Amino acid sequence: MFSSTKLVCFSLAFLSLLFTIEAYDSCTDQFHDLTLKRNLKNCKKLATLGAEFGWNHHIESQNKSILVDILFGVPQDAGIKWIAWGVNPGNRPQMVGTRAIIGIVQNNGTLSVNKYNVTTHTKLGCELLPSKIEIDVRNLTGETSNSSGYITFSARLDLDPSVYNVEMLNHVWQVGYDADQEALEPKMHPPNLQNFDSTETINMTVGEGRSIGHHHRHLRMVHGIVNIVGWGTLLPIGVILARYFRSFPVKLERWFCLHVGCQIVGYVLGTTGWAIGLWLGRTSKHYNFHTHRLLAIFIFTFTTLQMLALRLRPKQHDDYRKYWDMYHHFLGYALLAVIAVNVFHGIGIMKPNNTWKWAYIGILGVLGLITLVLEIFTWAKFFSMDKKDTKDKKEAPDTQNQPT
Ligand code: HEM
Ligand code: HEM
Ligand SMILES: *[C@@H]1O[C@H](CO)[C@@H](O)[C@H](O)[C@H]1NC(C)=O
Ligand SMILES: *[C@@H]1O[C@H](CO)[C@@H](O)[C@H](O)[C@H]1NC(C)=O
Ligand SMILES: *[C@@H]1O[C@H](CO)[C@@H](O)[C@H](O)[C@H]1NC(C)=O
Ligand SMILES: *[C@@H]1O[C@H](CO)[C@@H](O)[C@H](O)[C@H]1NC(C)=O
Ligand SMILES: *[C@@H]1O[C@H](CO)[C@@H](O)[C@H](O)[C@H]1NC(C)=O
Ligand SMILES: *[C@@H]1O[C@H](CO)[C@@H](O)[C@H](O)[C@H]1NC(C)=O
Repeated sequence: MFSSTKLVCFSLAFLSLLFTIEAYDSCTDQFHDLTLKRNLKNCKKLATLGAEFGWNHHIESQNKSILVDILFGVPQDAGIKWIAWGVNPGNRPQMVGTRAIIGIVQNNGTLSVNKYNVTTHTKLGCELLPSKIEIDVRNLTGETSNSSGYITFSARLDLDPSVYNVEMLNHVWQVGYDADQEALEPKMHPPNLQNFDSTETINMTVGEGRSIGHHHRHLRMVHGIVNIVGWGTLLPIGVILARYFRSFPVKLERWFCLHVGCQIVGYVLGTTGWAIGLWLGRTSKHYNFHTHRLLAIFIFTFTTLQMLALRLRPKQHDDYRKYWDMYHHFLGYALLAVIAVNVFHGIGIMKPNNTWKWAYIGILGVLGLITLVLEIFTWAKFFSMDKKDTKDKKEAPDTQNQPT
């Protein structure tokens, strides 16, 4: 029981959680050692892909050009075929327009590091090959070292101050799992959120990175949790209530209230989660998750139709009530399946770790087990009644008895 002040405090704490700006994340010890070896003073953990970044900057007094020494690294993983880092002269950090350094992992364990000009053609799927870029890059070296556990490259960049601003430098990073090693051609990276969020605007004079998108991390968690609870848990519980507690095998006087209650709360929560999803999708407009979005719209449309059942249900004794019930039940089961698919889809997009997946599999497992037990119980009861009294055959598991 919440008093209203408690409720206000709770809501404020919750809101502040949603809008906290990512704190500066310091590097791991292993990566920090690598930056020290290169005399780099600044080091930060980047927001995604486990990447880390070390740098020094220094402004040349004669020609004002900005000299930046960088070290970029990603934890070693057998599947990684290329790692990339680059700066973008445009007005926002994004893939297209990035002047990139890409290291391609060779079979003999070395890293071939080159410069690449990433363009719209790259995004459309044209091959990306080493090329000239406007930036003067020196001392380009890279390695896939087992001792540090990182795949890294380092370089010195000479940035033109009329194009780049060290206090607001747009940089992006990326990791890919497929490459043509001979042609030095990286292939498309995975289309996951982590790979799309791998951009930020950094103030190199302090080592703080501002980035669009990561502010949404909490909101995405809320989106996931609310959807899993609303669509993924309460709706199936409501269906279980309706199927097993209407009259057979167990008659629960208040089954109808409980069923409708569950469906209404589930629907309201789910719709909130859906709306948060739409908002998230709108604010990150340079990429979209089409399948997730389509399934979501399908789910919202048809659950709304199911909810209208509350009002539009034909009367108990109407001739077509039987068909209507079949339709309502069939759509209900189909929705549960689509919801499960979309929850897994959402988890796949988010992919922070496997916790989400196992949590949801746990929920599905428990619901499945309950259903199984009730189903077995139903049939057991049905057969034992069948022996006693053949007249009761009408009370088959799919009985269409309705509330009065
Ligand atoms: C190798 C060939 C590459 C292909 C075919 C490719 C393709 C794509 C596509 C199609 C998207 C957008 C997905 C959507 O809008 O739904 C995307 C996004 C992105 N890619 Fe790549 N990419 C490639 C290489 C790179 C490289 C080398 C980098 C880093 C230097 C990179 C960084 C990014 C980032 C940060 C995004 C997020 C959205 C954006 O900023 O535009 N990609 N990529
Ligand atoms: C059945 C339940 C769900 C529905 C109806 C739903 C709905 C949506 C919608 C409408 C979008 C916007 C898509 C776009 O415009 O590109 C979205 C985005 C997203 N959803 Fe879901 N979602 C569900 C479950 C989940 C779950 C369980 C997770 C993760 C645990 C998840 C993670 C995401 C993420 C990460 C995005 C992208 C946010 C962004 O673009 O910044 N969703 N969802
Ligand atoms: C600026 O001066 C530094 C040191 O003298 C030199 O290394 C660099 O190439 C110069 N940059 C440009 C753009 O001329
Ligand atoms: C490793 O392979 C690459 C490309 O095949 C080659 O350029 C490089 O010299 C090789 N390095 C060693 C140490 O064998
Ligand atoms: C790199 O690509 C951009 C288009 O995104 C183009 O304007 C620029 O001239 C290219 N740079 C070089 C060195 O070719
Ligand atoms: C960069 O390479 C040049 C030779 O190309 C070398 O003289 C210089 O010491 C190198 N600098 C660093 C920081 O490794
Ligand atoms: C790194 O580890 C892999 C597998 O553990 C091994 O095959 C490879 O030879 C090692 N490379 C170096 C440079 O130690
Ligand atoms: C970058 O950081 C410095 C030092 O804190 C600060 O003076 C400067 O205003 C910052 N620049 C931007 C664009 O925020």
